[in-house]
Amino acid sequence: MYLTKEEEQIFNGELGEGTQKAIELLVAIGDAYDAERLIPITRAHAASSGQEGDMYFVELLAKGGASCRVPTTTNPVYDMEYFHSIFEIPEKEAEVARRVKEGYKQIGAILSWCCTPYITENIPLYGEHVAFSESSATPYVNSVIGARTNREAAQSALAAGVIGKTPKYELHLKENRKGTLLVKVEATLKDEFDYTLLGQYVGKQIGYGIPVFTGISAAPATEEFINLCAMLNTSGAVPMFHVPRFTVEAQTVEDAFQGDVPEDKITVTDKELKQIYEELQGASGKIDFVMLGCPHYTLKQVEEVARLLRGKKIHDDVSFWVCTSATARFLAERNGYVEVIEKAGGHVVPDTCIDEPCWHPYRHKIGVTDSPKCAYYRRFKEAVVIRLKNCVEAAIKGEWG
Ligand code: F3S
Repeated sequence: MYLTKEEEQIFNGELGEGTQKAIELLVAIGDAYDAERLIPITRAHAASSGQEGDMYFVELLAKGGASCRVPTTTNPVYDMEYFHSIFEIPEKEAEVARRVKEGYKQIGAILSWCCTPYITENIPLYGEHVAFSESSATPYVNSVIGARTNREAAQSALAAGVIGKTPKYELHLKENRKGTLLVKVEATLKDEFDYTLLGQYVGKQIGYGIPVFTGISAAPATEEFINLCAMLNTSGAVPMFHVPRFTVEAQTVEDAFQGDVPEDKITVTDKELKQIYEELQGASGKIDFVMLGCPHYTLKQVEEVARLLRGKKIHDDVSFWVCTSATARFLAERNGYVEVIEKAGGHVVPDTCIDEPCWHPYRHKIGVTDSPKCAYYRRFKEAVVIRLKNCVEAAIKGEWG
């Protein structure tokens, strides 16, 4: 891959070991994908977590003197103070999380600890070249916003944030952003959970690809897009999609395929969504916890939880958790939603991911969630996936079904 004079100097370690490690990773990726050169990016999002791989890489770069050249936000770890007051976190785990947080602070990242930064602290504009990791973030910024990112890892996104550049390949090039198959939606999509089911089904069917959806007649809400993105890129590996008229890069199906004729087509009816919902629901019975906010709930979603819980009491045997961004938590507190949820016996916690060691007390427990992604990570014995209103009903009754 061609390197400029400055990039050569960084590669040779003349500007420090931290930036050298960062550019080594970018060059290795660029070489693997036959990228001709690096291109400047305007922002990055690193899917950090409180786990050892992240600690190793951020410390390697930070101790080597690297710092972020472009705004770089961070994914959730967990709110340690909050959890320490509720359950014991093993010191070894707490130490890793502390060091990850310290490493990202040292390297000059924006400590957002949030997996939906594209609607809060780190919002690209149309056409910006960026480096975003995190399952919902990559397809959201590509599809809904029309910025350009590849499907980055936490490490490659951080390296890009440090160098301010990324290899020019794949989705940074217009010709690679065309649809690869047509998805005819004949199912009725009533709410954001239906978009979760749609994403779960289509991702599972296609694996990697750029689907072009037809049959969606109204503009999806932010939360509907977030859920579609998260599930397409969890049950599958979908970095981008088009919904002509409602995502920005294609007004028509022809635009979305850039003149090509799609070779494959799938049709999604109510039958497929019902089938996938039945698979996710699992067995009924007593529950120990409710887990919401994967991806992080927006303010509107926290408000909805408060509306459903107002004046109610969560069953004594059930723990009830809502994960959200620090920004949404702050506003939810100001608007009184947190008070309502806490009065009912629930928690609203910022900065925290469903896939973190802080949940170890639930390892052998059974719960419900509205997120297949949460269930997928298997931090629990079992997490049954049902609609939000059913999650709240189960929390009050202490059982599902
Ligand atoms: Fe966010 Fe963690 Fe779920 S990063 S999407 S809460 S697995």
